[in-house]
Amino acid sequence: MNIILLGAPGAGKGTQATRIEENYNLKHISTGDIFRHHMRQQTEVGMLARSYIKKGQLVPDEVTLRIVEIALKDAGMKDFMLDGFPRNINQAEALDKIVGIDKVIDISVDFDVLTERICGRRNCLECGYTTHVSQLKGGVCPKCGGEMQQRMDDKEETVKSRLTVYSEQTAPLIEYYKSQGKLFTVDGMGTPDEVFGEVRKVLG
Ligand code: AP5
Ligand code: MG
Repeated sequence: MNIILLGAPGAGKGTQATRIEENYNLKHISTGDIFRHHMRQQTEVGMLARSYIKKGQLVPDEVTLRIVEIALKDAGMKDFMLDGFPRNINQAEALDKIVGIDKVIDISVDFDVLTERICGRRNCLECGYTTHVSQLKGGVCPKCGGEMQQRMDDKEETVKSRLTVYSEQTAPLIEYYKSQGKLFTVDGMGTPDEVFGEVRKVLG
Protein backbone atom coordinates (compact mmCIF):
# COMPACT_ATOMS: atom_id res chain seq x y z
CA MET A 1 0.00 0.00 0.00
CA ASN A 2 1.25 3.48 -0.93
CA ILE A 3 -0.16 6.40 1.01
CA ILE A 4 0.14 10.18 1.32
CA LEU A 5 -0.27 12.16 4.55
CA LEU A 6 -1.75 15.52 3.69
CA GLY A 7 -2.34 18.38 6.11
CA ALA A 8 -1.30 21.91 7.00
CA PRO A 9 1.99 22.66 8.75
CA GLY A 10 1.53 21.50 12.35
CA ALA A 11 -1.47 19.27 11.56
CA GLY A 12 0.39 16.28 12.98
CA LYS A 13 1.72 14.50 9.87
CA GLY A 14 5.06 13.64 11.48
CA THR A 15 3.41 12.63 14.76
CA GLN A 16 1.04 10.22 12.97
CA ALA A 17 3.81 8.98 10.64
CA THR A 18 5.75 7.68 13.67
CA ARG A 19 2.70 5.76 14.88
CA ILE A 20 1.90 4.43 11.40
CA GLU A 21 5.50 3.28 10.93
CA GLU A 22 5.36 1.37 14.24
CA ASN A 23 2.08 -0.37 13.37
CA TYR A 24 2.12 -0.83 9.58
CA ASN A 25 4.90 -1.88 7.29
CA LEU A 26 5.17 1.45 5.46
CA LYS A 27 8.41 3.38 4.90
CA HIS A 28 8.23 7.00 6.02
CA ILE A 29 9.39 9.49 3.36
CA SER A 30 9.32 13.08 4.68
CA THR A 31 10.65 15.67 2.22
CA GLY A 32 11.08 18.12 5.11
CA ASP A 33 13.25 15.57 7.00
CA ILE A 34 15.30 14.89 3.84
CA PHE A 35 15.92 18.62 3.33
CA ARG A 36 16.88 19.04 7.01
CA HIS A 37 19.33 16.13 6.65
CA HIS A 38 20.89 17.85 3.61
CA MET A 39 21.08 21.14 5.54
CA ARG A 40 22.93 19.46 8.42
CA GLN A 41 25.36 17.86 5.95
CA GLN A 42 25.71 21.21 4.13
CA THR A 43 25.25 19.62 0.70
CA GLU A 44 24.42 21.69 -2.38
CA VAL A 45 20.75 20.68 -2.07
CA GLY A 46 20.88 21.60 1.63
CA MET A 47 22.25 25.11 0.98
CA LEU A 48 19.61 25.75 -1.67
CA ALA A 49 16.78 24.32 0.46
CA ARG A 50 17.79 26.45 3.44
CA SER A 51 17.28 29.68 1.48
CA TYR A 52 13.62 28.74 0.84
CA ILE A 53 12.81 26.95 4.10
CA LYS A 54 13.94 29.83 6.31
CA LYS A 55 11.45 32.09 4.49
CA GLY A 56 8.65 29.54 4.72
CA GLN A 57 8.55 29.06 0.94
CA LEU A 58 8.52 25.86 -1.09
CA VAL A 59 11.81 24.51 -2.40
CA PRO A 60 11.63 24.54 -6.24
CA ASP A 61 9.79 21.55 -7.71
CA GLU A 62 12.69 20.27 -9.84
CA VAL A 63 14.90 19.89 -6.73
CA THR A 64 12.10 18.37 -4.64
CA LEU A 65 11.12 15.92 -7.38
CA ARG A 66 14.71 14.76 -7.71
CA ILE A 67 15.02 13.93 -3.99
CA VAL A 68 11.60 12.22 -3.97
CA GLU A 69 12.51 9.99 -6.93
CA ILE A 70 15.67 8.89 -5.10
CA ALA A 71 13.72 8.22 -1.87
CA LEU A 72 11.05 6.24 -3.72
CA LYS A 73 13.68 4.10 -5.46
CA ASP A 74 15.39 3.50 -2.10
CA ALA A 75 12.00 2.38 -0.74
CA GLY A 76 11.61 -0.08 -3.63
CA MET A 77 8.73 1.97 -5.15
CA LYS A 78 6.16 0.35 -2.85
CA ASP A 79 4.78 0.28 0.69
CA PHE A 80 5.65 3.88 1.48
CA MET A 81 4.06 6.82 3.25
CA LEU A 82 4.77 10.29 1.85
CA ASP A 83 4.73 13.12 4.42
CA GLY A 84 4.95 16.70 3.13
CA PHE A 85 4.89 15.67 -0.52
CA PRO A 86 3.18 16.50 -2.86
CA ARG A 87 2.66 20.13 -1.90
CA ASN A 88 1.22 21.55 -5.09
CA ILE A 89 -0.64 20.30 -8.18
CA ASN A 90 2.54 20.16 -10.28
CA GLN A 91 4.20 17.80 -7.76
CA ALA A 92 1.03 15.66 -7.57
CA GLU A 93 0.87 15.29 -11.36
CA ALA A 94 4.57 14.41 -11.50
CA LEU A 95 4.04 11.77 -8.77
CA ASP A 96 1.10 10.25 -10.67
CA LYS A 97 3.46 9.65 -13.60
CA ILE A 98 6.00 7.81 -11.42
CA VAL A 99 3.97 5.58 -9.09
CA GLY A 100 0.41 4.67 -8.03
CA ILE A 101 -1.09 5.99 -4.78
CA ASP A 102 -3.79 4.02 -2.92
CA LYS A 103 -4.96 6.32 -0.12
CA VAL A 104 -4.51 9.97 0.81
CA ILE A 105 -5.15 10.83 4.46
CA ASP A 106 -5.89 14.50 5.06
CA ILE A 107 -5.38 15.42 8.73
CA SER A 108 -7.79 18.27 9.28
CA VAL A 109 -7.07 20.79 12.06
CA ASP A 110 -8.56 24.21 12.86
CA PHE A 111 -6.22 26.88 11.52
CA ASP A 112 -6.10 28.81 14.79
CA VAL A 113 -4.37 25.99 16.74
CA LEU A 114 -1.59 25.50 14.18
CA THR A 115 0.65 28.44 15.10
CA GLU A 116 0.65 27.50 18.79
CA ARG A 117 1.42 23.85 17.97
CA ILE A 118 4.26 24.73 15.60
CA CYS A 119 5.90 27.43 17.71
CA GLY A 120 5.80 25.05 20.70
CA ARG A 121 7.36 22.13 18.86
CA ARG A 122 10.79 20.88 19.97
CA ASN A 123 12.91 18.16 18.33
CA CYS A 124 15.62 16.03 19.90
CA LEU A 125 19.04 16.62 18.34
CA GLU A 126 20.08 13.04 19.20
CA CYS A 127 17.15 10.78 18.32
CA GLY A 128 14.80 13.09 16.37
CA TYR A 129 11.90 12.67 18.84
CA THR A 130 9.33 15.48 18.43
CA THR A 131 7.06 16.87 21.10
CA HIS A 132 5.44 20.07 22.35
CA VAL A 133 7.38 22.24 24.80
CA SER A 134 4.56 21.87 27.36
CA GLN A 135 5.37 18.12 27.60
CA LEU A 136 9.05 18.65 28.42
CA LYS A 137 10.50 18.39 31.89
CA GLY A 138 13.91 20.04 32.30
CA GLY A 139 14.25 20.74 28.57
CA VAL A 140 15.73 17.32 27.73
CA CYS A 141 14.42 14.54 25.48
CA PRO A 142 12.13 12.17 27.44
CA LYS A 143 13.27 9.26 25.22
CA CYS A 144 17.06 9.61 25.27
CA GLY A 145 17.99 12.62 27.44
CA GLY A 146 19.35 14.51 24.38
CA GLU A 147 19.15 18.26 23.82
CA MET A 148 15.83 19.58 22.46
CA GLN A 149 15.86 22.25 19.75
CA GLN A 150 13.36 24.45 17.91
CA ARG A 151 13.29 24.16 14.09
CA MET A 152 14.55 27.30 12.33
CA ASP A 153 11.27 27.65 10.41
CA ASP A 154 9.13 27.36 13.56
CA LYS A 155 9.31 31.08 14.41
CA GLU A 156 6.04 33.02 14.20
CA GLU A 157 6.78 35.14 11.06
CA THR A 158 7.95 32.09 9.10
CA VAL A 159 4.92 30.10 10.24
CA LYS A 160 2.67 32.82 8.79
CA SER A 161 4.17 32.42 5.32
CA ARG A 162 4.10 28.60 5.60
CA LEU A 163 0.36 28.75 6.33
CA THR A 164 -0.23 31.12 3.37
CA VAL A 165 1.74 28.80 1.07
CA TYR A 166 -0.36 25.88 2.38
CA SER A 167 -3.69 27.66 1.67
CA GLU A 168 -2.66 28.81 -1.79
CA GLN A 169 -0.68 25.85 -3.12
CA THR A 170 -1.28 22.72 -1.02
CA ALA A 171 -4.96 22.90 -0.01
CA PRO A 172 -6.08 22.48 -3.68
CA LEU A 173 -4.70 18.91 -3.44
CA ILE A 174 -7.72 18.00 -1.29
CA GLU A 175 -10.00 18.44 -4.35
CA TYR A 176 -7.39 16.81 -6.60
CA TYR A 177 -7.39 13.57 -4.61
CA LYS A 178 -11.12 13.71 -3.84
CA SER A 179 -11.78 13.68 -7.58
CA GLN A 180 -9.55 10.58 -7.86
CA GLY A 181 -11.63 8.89 -5.09
CA LYS A 182 -8.55 8.48 -2.86
CA LEU A 183 -9.17 11.08 -0.17
CA PHE A 184 -9.90 10.17 3.46
CA THR A 185 -10.31 13.06 5.90
CA VAL A 186 -9.35 12.47 9.52
CA ASP A 187 -10.21 14.82 12.41
CA GLY A 188 -6.83 16.01 13.70
CA MET A 189 -8.17 17.90 16.72
CA GLY A 190 -8.08 15.05 19.24
CA THR A 191 -5.02 13.80 21.13
CA PRO A 192 -2.32 12.14 18.98
CA ASP A 193 -3.63 8.70 20.05
CA GLU A 194 -7.22 9.62 19.25
CA VAL A 195 -6.15 10.86 15.82
CA PHE A 196 -4.25 7.61 15.29
CA GLY A 197 -7.46 5.72 16.11
CA GLU A 198 -9.09 7.53 13.16
CA VAL A 199 -6.09 6.80 10.94
CA ARG A 200 -6.39 3.09 11.80
CA LYS A 201 -10.00 3.08 10.59
CA VAL A 202 -8.74 4.29 7.19
CA LEU A 203 -5.75 1.94 6.93
CA GLY A 204 -7.59 -1.12 8.31
P1 AP5 B 1 7.89 19.93 6.56
O1 AP5 B 1 8.97 19.45 7.41
O2 AP5 B 1 7.13 18.99 5.72
O3 AP5 B 1 6.91 20.80 7.46
P2 AP5 B 1 5.31 21.07 7.37
O4 AP5 B 1 4.56 20.43 6.30
O5 AP5 B 1 5.23 22.54 7.45
O6 AP5 B 1 4.76 20.33 8.55
P3 AP5 B 1 5.33 20.24 9.99
O7 AP5 B 1 6.46 19.25 10.00
O8 AP5 B 1 5.60 21.61 10.53
O9 AP5 B 1 4.08 19.71 10.78
P4 AP5 B 1 3.51 18.22 10.96
O10 AP5 B 1 2.21 18.15 10.27
O11 AP5 B 1 4.54 17.19 10.63
O12 AP5 B 1 3.22 18.27 12.52
P5 AP5 B 1 3.95 17.54 13.75
O13 AP5 B 1 3.52 16.12 13.82
O14 AP5 B 1 5.41 17.81 13.78
O15 AP5 B 1 8.46 21.06 5.56
C1 AP5 B 1 9.31 22.09 6.01
C2 AP5 B 1 9.73 22.95 4.83
O16 AP5 B 1 10.49 22.17 3.88
C3 AP5 B 1 8.58 23.56 4.00
O17 AP5 B 1 8.10 24.77 4.55
C4 AP5 B 1 9.28 23.77 2.65
O18 AP5 B 1 10.08 24.93 2.66
C5 AP5 B 1 10.19 22.54 2.55
N1 AP5 B 1 9.50 21.43 1.87
C6 AP5 B 1 9.13 20.25 2.43
N2 AP5 B 1 8.48 19.47 1.53
C7 AP5 B 1 8.44 20.19 0.37
C8 AP5 B 1 7.88 19.94 -0.91
N3 AP5 B 1 7.19 18.81 -1.18
N4 AP5 B 1 8.02 20.90 -1.87
C9 AP5 B 1 8.70 22.04 -1.62
N5 AP5 B 1 9.23 22.35 -0.42
C10 AP5 B 1 9.11 21.43 0.58
O19 AP5 B 1 3.23 18.31 14.96
C11 AP5 B 1 3.42 19.69 15.17
C12 AP5 B 1 3.36 20.03 16.67
O20 AP5 B 1 2.05 19.73 17.15
C13 AP5 B 1 4.32 19.21 17.55
O21 AP5 B 1 4.74 20.01 18.63
C14 AP5 B 1 3.46 18.05 18.06
O22 AP5 B 1 3.92 17.55 19.29
C15 AP5 B 1 2.09 18.72 18.16
N6 AP5 B 1 0.97 17.81 17.87
C16 AP5 B 1 0.90 16.87 16.88
N7 AP5 B 1 -0.29 16.24 16.90
C17 AP5 B 1 -1.00 16.80 17.91
C18 AP5 B 1 -2.32 16.60 18.44
N8 AP5 B 1 -3.14 15.66 17.92
N9 AP5 B 1 -2.72 17.37 19.48
C19 AP5 B 1 -1.89 18.31 20.03
N10 AP5 B 1 -0.64 18.54 19.58
C20 AP5 B 1 -0.20 17.81 18.54
MG1 MG C 1 6.51 17.21 9.87
